[in-house]
Amino acid sequence: MRASDYEFIRHLVYERSRIDLGPDKRELVSARLGKRVRATRFASIADYCLFLRSEAPEDEVANLIDAVSTNHTYFFRESSHFDFLRTVALPDLAGRRRQTYWPQLRLWSAACSSGEEPYSLAIVLAEALPALAADWSWRIEATDISRRVLAQAQAAIYDEKAVSRMPPDIIQRYFQRGYGPQEGNYRAKRFLQERVFFAQLNLVGDALPFSEPFQVIFCRNVMIYFDRPTQEELVHRLARQLVPGGYLFVGHSESLTGVRHPLQSVHPAVYRRPPAARP
Ligand SMILES: C[S@@+](CC[C@H](N)C(=O)[O-])C[C@H]1O[C@@H](n2cnc3c(N)ncnc32)[C@H](O)[C@@H]1O
Repeated sequence: MRASDYEFIRHLVYERSRIDLGPDKRELVSARLGKRVRATRFASIADYCLFLRSEAPEDEVANLIDAVSTNHTYFFRESSHFDFLRTVALPDLAGRRRQTYWPQLRLWSAACSSGEEPYSLAIVLAEALPALAADWSWRIEATDISRRVLAQAQAAIYDEKAVSRMPPDIIQRYFQRGYGPQEGNYRAKRFLQERVFFAQLNLVGDALPFSEPFQVIFCRNVMIYFDRPTQEELVHRLARQLVPGGYLFVGHSESLTGVRHPLQSVHPAVYRRPPAARP
């Protein structure tokens, strides 16, 4: 891949997604683009870039971002976050819900990739909430910039290796074993799927479509690809989507040290919007 094509791609990806590929990823990007170029039947990366330079249609730019970004994820990734949610955040939120008049518990998995994160959240809620607040309804919004991973998330089908990270009783309660052509695969059970609402959303470009704030936001392992000003802007956007006393979880390698933000640090990679002062 020519240096000038790499700089063009780098700039386009940054402009549309704020993913900062940096100056040293030419080889990696070239390998990832190769697949996209073959799928679109262009003769070379240079031809593909020529096409993007002249037209840059929205759909293809989305596919490009998809091709160069990483969607790596797994069930209960950074498990201490799910422990914190279960043992600290949920009891705290359930205890405050009456005085704050929260009719529904709302969570948002921002940058949800292929769905492992929001389904892990759904499992924690399904397990923990009956004992804490059995009559509290809940829902999870799950968004990502990539339509490809969202389609996977919506299908909710995972192979044996992916689900094997969870204890057998959890797999049995929340997943259906496939048979015939789906032998070896597992699908999240319908009642779990019905709690998770997927939508495409660019965290740094699009207007946020939510009319109600969230008690919990997971925005993990995506900020790492953004530069400092973009991270700062995003954390402020997310903070505005939290109820007072709501929690923001970021990836463990994404500590907000050095990023100006209005949140309190309450646990490694967990932040909280200050609760409203009592009148
Ligand atoms: C490494 S995955 C993280 C998945 C999950 N949150 C986790 O921690 O396992 C990063 C995800 O961020 C998404 N992403 C990248 N840029 C984005 C943007 N500007 N807006 C929304 N999602 C974005 C990618 O498509 C990818 O699915």
